[in-house]
Amino acid sequence: MTVLITGGAGYIGSHTCVELLNAGYEIVVVDNFSNSYPEALRRVKEITGKNFHEYPIDLLDQEGLESIFLKHKISSVIHFAGLKAVGESVSEPLWYYRNNVIGTIILCEVMKKNDVKNLVFSSSATVYGKPDTVPIPEDSLLKTTNPYGRTKYMIEEILRDVYVADPEWSIARLRYFNPIGAHISGKIGEAPQGTPNNLLPYISQVAVGKLNELKVFGNDYETQDGTGVRDYIHVVDLSIGHVKALEKVESERGVHTYNLGTGRGYSVLEMIEAFEKASGQEISYIVSKRRPGDIPVCFADTRKAFEELGWRAERGINEMCEDAWRWQWRNPEGYHSIEADHQTSLEKESTKFFVAPQQEKVLK
Ligand code: NAD
Ligand code: WQD
Repeated sequence: MTVLITGGAGYIGSHTCVELLNAGYEIVVVDNFSNSYPEALRRVKEITGKNFHEYPIDLLDQEGLESIFLKHKISSVIHFAGLKAVGESVSEPLWYYRNNVIGTIILCEVMKKNDVKNLVFSSSATVYGKPDTVPIPEDSLLKTTNPYGRTKYMIEEILRDVYVADPEWSIARLRYFNPIGAHISGKIGEAPQGTPNNLLPYISQVAVGKLNELKVFGNDYETQDGTGVRDYIHVVDLSIGHVKALEKVESERGVHTYNLGTGRGYSVLEMIEAFEKASGQEISYIVSKRRPGDIPVCFADTRKAFEELGWRAERGINEMCEDAWRWQWRNPEGYHSIEADHQTSLEKESTKFFVAPQQEKVLK
């Protein structure tokens, strides 16, 4: 039995592929590479010494998706594929609703048609909006504040309705807090296109000399040092959480909702300090005004995931920063430069890699 990973070439997807392969699962990856590179999957194979099929298919391409279900005996799906930039979702809401919401509906329709009803879905702590209390338990009021967050909220609701209509489905809705860090090998990590929006990739690029200085968005919040506090979680811990969630949906039907965080918040200034310690580099920063839409404090109540999945995050903030730094200095351009070299060799040997008509691509 095989697990289909949508968005498997992305940041969290690629790390989860490693953990699934290490746990003995067979996987198949679908990704349109709109925010990732095939090189990430090549490196997953290098890290694990295991091979798998990958398909450059868009979720909106229903026929393409169906062909994968016909070709492979899929038992479960982990669904990462989605657009995730909050600011972009404000300027391009229709694109976000189409890609994220309609993409998920198409995926579920294809799953239903092929009698595959186990699904693990990437939701986000963004569904909580500005929380009334911290730590945030799963049964908090949901009041997300931007189109990206609303796609996650809508998909969560759609998935509940799918289960209510047919209790043969088994669904986990995983609400991630702030994933950072990278695989210990330094071979895979977060590779944002353009200037990063998120704190850790921004700090990493200042440390490696690609960006001049960080803007700290506000130091007048009611927090220990006035800067925003978040629950940063190591991407490998998060990925292991997916393996546990998959075991849960495969063994107990229902709609299961879990926070995946550490339960501990760090301020922006604490993160700068931790990264300086891990990297030995000074992080230049200036304090600027608050970023619109930011909340002061956000961290998870992690008890439910521990009680029901037996999972908790193990890696601390120093390890997160050390691993992020190793990835960053070894790959200052992310996957980009290697991908360009690789593309050239792919073009030369295209017949070896591409098998029409299913667009199957197996990289060694
Ligand atoms: P990512 O952009 O690195 O990965 C998403 C992957 O999905 C990319 O490889 C992209 O090419 C692919 N994709 C997007 N639309 C697609 C489509 N229509 N068809 C096929 N592939 C498509 O992002 P990530 O950080 O790995 O996030 C994975 C998931 O987790 C996303 O759904 C995101 O919203 C969610 N999430 C991320 C964070 C975070 O901070 N990184 C936090 C909470 C939730
Ligand atoms: C963290 C802290 C900023 C950048 C976002 C999305 C959320 C989720 C994760 C997907 C805040 C401060 C940041 C900078 C700064 N993604 N900061 N200077 O805002 O918690 O969440 O990513 O679901 O939906 O909203 O993460 O990393 O952007 O910010 O001072 O250049 O760092 O103000 O306090 P955030 P972040």
